[in-house]
Amino acid sequence: MGAMGGVVVLCSVVIFSLSSLCHGLSLNYYDKTCPQAEAIITNVVNKAVKADKKVPAALLRMHFHDCFIRGCDGSVLLNSVGQNTAEKDGPPNISLHAYYVIDSAKKQVEKVCPGVVSCADVLALAARDVVVQAGGPYWQVSKGRLDGRISRASETRQLPSPAFNFSQLLQSFSQRGLSGADLVALSGGHTLGFSHCSSFQNRIHNFDATHDVDPTLNPSFAESLKNICPAVNKAKNAGSNMDTSPATFDNTYYKLLIQRKSLFSSDQALLSTSETKSLVYKFASSHKAFTDAFAKSMIKMSSLTGGQEVRLKCSEAN
Ligand code: HEM
Ligand SMILES: *[C@@H]1O[C@H](CO)[C@@H](O)[C@H](O)[C@H]1NC(C)=O
Ligand SMILES: *[C@@H]1O[C@H](CO)[C@@H](O)[C@H](O)[C@H]1NC(C)=O
Repeated sequence: MGAMGGVVVLCSVVIFSLSSLCHGLSLNYYDKTCPQAEAIITNVVNKAVKADKKVPAALLRMHFHDCFIRGCDGSVLLNSVGQNTAEKDGPPNISLHAYYVIDSAKKQVEKVCPGVVSCADVLALAARDVVVQAGGPYWQVSKGRLDGRISRASETRQLPSPAFNFSQLLQSFSQRGLSGADLVALSGGHTLGFSHCSSFQNRIHNFDATHDVDPTLNPSFAESLKNICPAVNKAKNAGSNMDTSPATFDNTYYKLLIQRKSLFSSDQALLSTSETKSLVYKFASSHKAFTDAFAKSMIKMSSLTGGQEVRLKCSEAN
């Protein structure tokens, strides 16, 4: 039997045993095989958020990184092994943390339905749950993602950089089937969390040949960032909150963006086309317009799949 035959057999087994579409995601994917999965995950996530208000930002960003590299396949969760350095240990890992929440949710689910629920699904559900916990929208998460076996630090280069301009951002998103509107809505994830100086340092020191500071930055805001992040001798973990309410999922990010008080060039870039600029203004003036659009775009981003197995432990391929 050739490779195609193998795929057909695998697909019909999936259809037979789970009555879901081959490789497709569905809302009722675990209804027969692990109906408790979502409640178990939500419970673990909510407890973790109560203990540490940084968990929502961490898990939301983790899901974004997961989906942008090899699809949402849990590759971000794998540990380095032997000669292979995993995504986790790659350069833009600086703000990725709280892996323990996903590992612990998966462990709890394994006790009830061993080998059924993928780590990629656990992370997609957790990303929804943390947004809800932070005061953001609820959306139904389709399930049925599979976990990948490969995670390479070098592939974190595929993530968009905070120094990207609009065309670079749009290219990065459209390569993944996401639109300019998705880019504006999903950038609203920057309503949560914290950034280290290194991610915006280029904008506040030696910006270009004629400007020390990025001229698109609000001058007093730039001044305050320079105080936190001096060119030399800055504190090891220095940085800035993403917005003025970093533990609350709200539309403050867009309000500050209009005032040119956002951290990254990639945020500022959303004002550089008329289509995306009008969305920024819309989201700044309507919390509901933002949260509706965010939920819709999260569903789209979450549906980028990859992977081929249900991992037993999120940090290790089977
Ligand atoms: C549009 C392209 C994006 C770029 C260039 C970007 C870049 C960054 C950078 C540089 C940081 C700070 C890392 C650090 O210095 O610690 C960050 C943080 C963060 N990003 Fe993004 N990001 C993007 C899109 C997204 C998306 C789509 C989401 C989720 C929907 C997201 C959610 C977050 C969150 C929640 C944090 C804070 C993490 C924490 O406090 O633990 N970002 N992002
Ligand atoms: C992040 O990646 C660097 C290599 O770029 C590595 O030295 C460091 O240990 C990683 N940090 C974490 C928390 O994994
Ligand atoms: C965006 O950046 C790329 C790469 O540096 C550059 O080639 C392009 O001209 C820039 N686009 C705009 C509109 O500035």
